[in-house]
Amino acid sequence: MNANQYIQNLFVKKDPEAEAILQSLEDNEIPNISIPPETGHFMTLLIKLSGAKKALEIGALGGYSGLHILRGLPKDGTLLSLEIRDEYVDLAKENLTKAGYGENISYRLGSALDSLEQLKQEKETFDLFFIDADKRNYIHYLEASIALARPNALILVDNTLRGGRVYDPENQEKTTKFIREFNEYLSDHAQLDAIILPIGDGLAMARVKG
Ligand SMILES: C[S@@+](CC[C@H](N)C(=O)[O-])C[C@H]1O[C@@H](n2cnc3c(N)ncnc32)[C@H](O)[C@@H]1O
Repeated sequence: MNANQYIQNLFVKKDPEAEAILQSLEDNEIPNISIPPETGHFMTLLIKLSGAKKALEIGALGGYSGLHILRGLPKDGTLLSLEIRDEYVDLAKENLTKAGYGENISYRLGSALDSLEQLKQEKETFDLFFIDADKRNYIHYLEASIALARPNALILVDNTLRGGRVYDPENQEKTTKFIREFNEYLSDHAQLDAIILPIGDGLAMARVKG
């Protein structure tokens, strides 16, 4: 057993809504690359503490992280999710509607970089961001999030430890290098207070300075 399994066993209770989303991925033969349950549980808790109302997610898949974000928002909170594959948008929408969040969700289909640029043109702002799509664009997603952030906004980023590969000097995989570069960039960003937590696959959290 490792620390994450121990935490999961203790704190992640039976969760039929979340399990239904994972089942829908399996039924549709979509690989489960959702966040792990302990990361979801932590995100819900953190989002409740943050008081965030308007959230933006990059990478919807089947709506598993979306469910955990929505659970942290108030009843009238909203989640806009950016996703490049229309079948994932349909599935996430269906899953989150079934979970009772149909009124709280919206999606933008297409490349997240394009959608982020559109949102900037539209002068949209958010107080919570969750970045969980193509790793090579993490730095761009971070900068785009800062550009759309309200003061004190919270930015969460998944997979920042990549199962420990980021701190294995022998590992020179392309994606590991992207994440290493991202982590260094994050650690030295003048507009952010930031840290990486070793929960799940490594969750970075940052506060946009007011
Ligand atoms: C790791 S999965 C997201 C998992 C989801 N956040 C969860 O935990 O339930 C990454 C998602 O990002 C989407 N994606 C990949 N590249 C993208 C891009 N350039 N723009 C928007 N979405 C993208 C993929 O189609 C996939 O659904």
